[in-house]
Amino acid sequence: MAKAKTVFFCKECGYESAKWMGQCPGCKEWNTFVEEPAERKAAAGRGPGISARMGATGRPGRVKPARLEEISVEENDRIGTGFGELDRVLGSGIVGGSLVLVGGDPGIGKSTLLLQVCRNLAQSGKKVLYISGEESLKQIKLRAARIGQVTGELSFLCETNLDVIQEVLEEEKPDVAVIDSIQTMFREEISSAPGSVSQVRESTNLLMQIAKSQGIAVFIVGHVTKEGMVAGPRVLEHMVDTVLYFEGDRSDTYRILRAVKNRFGSTNEIGVFEMEEKGLQEVQNPSEFLLSGRPEDASGAAVACLMEGTRPILVEVQALVTATSFGMPRRTAAGTDYNRVNLLMAVLEKRCRYEMSRYDAYVNIAGGMRMNEPALDLAIIMSLVSSLKDRAIDPKTVIFGEVGLSGEVRGVSMAEQRVNEAVKLGFETCILPQICLDRLKRTEGIRLIGVRNVREAIDTLR
Ligand code: TYD
Ligand code: MG
Repeated sequence: MAKAKTVFFCKECGYESAKWMGQCPGCKEWNTFVEEPAERKAAAGRGPGISARMGATGRPGRVKPARLEEISVEENDRIGTGFGELDRVLGSGIVGGSLVLVGGDPGIGKSTLLLQVCRNLAQSGKKVLYISGEESLKQIKLRAARIGQVTGELSFLCETNLDVIQEVLEEEKPDVAVIDSIQTMFREEISSAPGSVSQVRESTNLLMQIAKSQGIAVFIVGHVTKEGMVAGPRVLEHMVDTVLYFEGDRSDTYRILRAVKNRFGSTNEIGVFEMEEKGLQEVQNPSEFLLSGRPEDASGAAVACLMEGTRPILVEVQALVTATSFGMPRRTAAGTDYNRVNLLMAVLEKRCRYEMSRYDAYVNIAGGMRMNEPALDLAIIMSLVSSLKDRAIDPKTVIFGEVGLSGEVRGVSMAEQRVNEAVKLGFETCILPQICLDRLKRTEGIRLIGVRNVREAIDTLR
């Protein structure tokens, strides 16, 4: 009997191989190869050419390149989602015919977010189709009842067969469609199970063709888990136009939406939401949110002003420095780069003569945000010294600046926006790099202290 042909896929990045391998040559992950039945080769014939799929006109077979001025773009082909936070992450709204992947851990709120988006879109007169392969119509109705009244042309479909979905989409021609989730979808002609690498890849391929040829904006939900999931959405990242990740601690109420790839906008933007009884609510001022419940006059706490894309965000940096009881001091960094914290402690040791090697240090960005901007350096240094000396930093002070290896404080971008945000939230003092202060136009409303090196910054503690 002839052996059934199989191939091996890396479930992280989709790398294909004829034999099993321990380490994936593509993404260097270990133990990620899974065996799947080999696919039939593409059906005879060429299928629609890429230009036809991408929405170019002209007879199939006679493909003609186009000049930029020949391509017509409608002025307002961005669709607002009703969520300012989401619009910003997408780059001012949904682009017609685009494919957006929304990834995130199970239970983080992807279905809730997209259902709310559908509701907003339907309310503003768009035709929307929500296709769920995970929940029954009853379950969707229960969820919809929580988020509020639904009006307009929003319809639901429970289906996992993509060939059926294709027919429905071509017949209904909605403006926006949601596929929840890609791991449950399958194509009949592919023999492997739903959720496997080849199914997920082929399904996404088909959805891309539908999106581009029909001009339907499609949202795809994808689950990411460390273990136990057959195909990671990372396989899809290079196929779709936009990849959004919905993150956050499930035990906490707020969620961060982050773009990791965007063909139509910046990838630096984040959107902040809060999960409430009635679905997700936007958090328009995350700084206020992140700083709420801050202990006043506690040593080791410093407020830093960081940029997330074009938006300044104030976060609290906490440090706890205690005498070490072992030969090896313990260091941890939650929410920021561990090596960066070590480096900053070495700067303190060498340039300011603090014997940091005799102390354990724990650094934490309060609120569970992950921040890696260099402008955080000075705030980390100040919180470390504040905790070491047990002397509190004035709670109405904001600190930002990059610290170099010789202890110098270097300039950072967008100082003006950072200072303005601090003023807006009622801060009275701002410690910033001298070079930023020199270039700053506005100085009223807040006391600005320019510093050239770490020592000058620490001197403000006294
Ligand atoms: P869900 O959108 O089902 O997550 P995902 O699709 O990413 O798997 O979110 C489910 C969680 O959200 C669940 O723990 C309950 C919570 N939730 C609320 O707190 N309020 C609400 O109004 C809704 C609809 C869900
Ligand atoms: Mg869901």
